[in-house]
Amino acid sequence: MSRKNIIAANWKMNMTPTETAAFLDPFLTTFSDAVDCDIVIAPSFVSLAKASEEITPNPAVSLSAQNMSHEASGAFTGETSAAMLLDLGCEYVILGHSERRSLYNECDSVINKKVHATLAAGMKPILCIGESLEEREGGKLESVLTSQLEGSLADVSADQMANVVIAYEPVWAIGTGVTATSGQAQETQKFVRSVLEKLFGADVAGATRIQYGGSVKPGNAGELIAQPDIDGFLVGGAALDPTSFAEIVKAGIAG
Ligand code: 13P
Repeated sequence: MSRKNIIAANWKMNMTPTETAAFLDPFLTTFSDAVDCDIVIAPSFVSLAKASEEITPNPAVSLSAQNMSHEASGAFTGETSAAMLLDLGCEYVILGHSERRSLYNECDSVINKKVHATLAAGMKPILCIGESLEEREGGKLESVLTSQLEGSLADVSADQMANVVIAYEPVWAIGTGVTATSGQAQETQKFVRSVLEKLFGADVAGATRIQYGGSVKPGNAGELIAQPDIDGFLVGGAALDPTSFAEIVKAGIAG
């Protein structure tokens, strides 16, 4: 089954609106035509409007938020709704990132509500899962990933899965400079696909795009994307520089 690669920049809490424009000016010139790879930029909430203005005429690049409330509107100070993100032209929403799970106590049941709110609004969740080093070394890799997938995707239908992207991000590889080897990433992502098969059937599992995230750089992107179960990347640090992110996107187009 052929799956279109998807390469996404998760800028986390970096990039002011001014810096966003300075990044996108050269980057969008490099990718001005549609390519055989989805390219996604996820700025912070305050830079979404500027990014949207810059990206809107570009056929190759889509906009993502880094989080979203599952509530539709109302007295939720500091939160951002699906309608607000749609109004800014967001196509994707990153949900359940390990930093949100560990620093802001987001659990699978809350992430599941956000997944449903994102899908109901017509946007596409990029659902992050991943194990800590302690969990991996303690033999809990498979049970952790299975329960994250079961919990975060509860009551999502097989049809809805066409709009869900999974991002496998081992916590020990995020921002550490330690990348999972291509063999480790492939083996784990194959396992993730097998869980999707149990939950949704072989067709859905074969069609779902699974990104790898964790210290992806221009130097390791080619080897990682060559793995059969790696369908793109969610990139943090190396996506803050337009030249380095462009190199990673090129690996996604070639891979
Ligand atoms: P780094 O690429 O900086 O390791 O971050 C990965 C990540 O968390 C992307 O969501």
